[in-house]
Amino acid sequence: MKHESKKKEGESAVMENMISLAKRRGFIFQGSEIYGGLAGTWDYGPLGVALKNNVKNLWWKRFVADREDMYGMDAAILMNQNAWKASGHVAGFSDPLVECEKCKRRFRADQLDAEAREKRKCPECGGKLGAEKQFNMMFKTHVGASEDAAAVSYLRPETAQGMFVNFKNIIDAFHPKLPFGMAQIGKAFRNEIAPRDFIFRTREFEQMEIEYFVDPKDWKDTFEHFIREVRAFTADVGLPKEKVHEYEVPGDSLAHYSKRTVDFEFDYPFGKKELYGLAYRTDFDLKAHSATSGVDLSYYDEEAKARFVPHVIEPSFGVDRTVLAVLSEAYREDELGGEKRVYLKLAPSVAPIKAAVFPLLKNKDALTAKAREIYQVLRKEFAKGSGGVEYDEVGSIGKRYRRQDEIGTPYCVTIDFDTIEKDGSPVTVRDRDTGTQEAIPLKDLVSFLSQKLNR
Ligand code: GAP
Repeated sequence: MKHESKKKEGESAVMENMISLAKRRGFIFQGSEIYGGLAGTWDYGPLGVALKNNVKNLWWKRFVADREDMYGMDAAILMNQNAWKASGHVAGFSDPLVECEKCKRRFRADQLDAEAREKRKCPECGGKLGAEKQFNMMFKTHVGASEDAAAVSYLRPETAQGMFVNFKNIIDAFHPKLPFGMAQIGKAFRNEIAPRDFIFRTREFEQMEIEYFVDPKDWKDTFEHFIREVRAFTADVGLPKEKVHEYEVPGDSLAHYSKRTVDFEFDYPFGKKELYGLAYRTDFDLKAHSATSGVDLSYYDEEAKARFVPHVIEPSFGVDRTVLAVLSEAYREDELGGEKRVYLKLAPSVAPIKAAVFPLLKNKDALTAKAREIYQVLRKEFAKGSGGVEYDEVGSIGKRYRRQDEIGTPYCVTIDFDTIEKDGSPVTVRDRDTGTQEAIPLKDLVSFLSQKLNR
């Protein structure tokens, strides 16, 4: 949806600093960087993957694992071209494009400022803009060795259709009663005319989507239920309530399949923009696939002894937009102990590293051995697929704290000589946000961190 507020002065500096931190510390790199990049693509490094996996795991937990009415999926990215004809994407998944007759740059017509639009003037070189035409955003390809029309396929522009075409398989394999949903996480591709704002609008991205099938009479209650669930998920990943807004998309701006859409918007550093969408897709997709494939995609309600095509409520989440919201919200510059520092105030639920372990000094055999032993204990406890634990013995303790602050590690644990000398002696646990240090008996360390990390 295109309800977007304007960029405010000075906010681009925050973006620049955050992008530079993301690169320097191994979160996110420009795609194909050594070849000069490929517009609209980004590569996630080790910390970025861990952060992204935490987001995906929290989503899967809330919407699939913790529910009894949801069926997980992982459908193929490439689909029979008829699926995209039926869904309306071949005919209508396009954005308005204008090209400058002088410099040949291309722009999305609906994103030009008023002056450029009215005067048909290129915002880059001042040349004349050509006529507006529709540009289909699907990436087209051919499947197999032949390049004829029958071999055409597309990289999916949404994960949704992979679920609609499997509706009958889920019914036949699991015999679910309405209401029930299908959910999946996966890549989607759109040949965006103007990718921009780091990982906000890219050509390759990940979606987390649910197609939730209901009796048409229940759609309103289900829609309200998912409004609450989307809000709850933004809290799961640590986004503050006051920065997430709901926007009722007006009738004349709805997508071709939707009767009602609420966009969830976030206050990014470059303005208020769409984070997620929640749409009432009616029976549009199941009916369209039924008509095109000739396969009956209706549902038989045993109790009512009635057959009908279910309606669909679709919450759709962008993984990368979540990562960007989380990172930009967490990015902080402050002063601690008289020194400037940069840190990420990440919620423990998404932080890629949950805790770091330091021996006070290096090259002291007994001290490093004890620190490594504690590190292994914490790894077992906290590095289970949702982030890691780091060990660091390089440089001063102050420098090690700063390095962890920059990547958003909530707690650092320092082992000193006391810890090895006396049984039950404390380690020092330092809090990222306040810099305060607490002496915690070694035997209580795991339970202390578990409580702090909310696990
Ligand atoms: N199945 C419905 C659908 O795809 P959408 O509003 O076009 O709806 C859903 O996309 C979500 O996917 C968006 O709210 C956003 O989070 C994410 N998304 C869409 N286009 C994107 C892009 N070019 N780059 C990054 N994320 C994108």
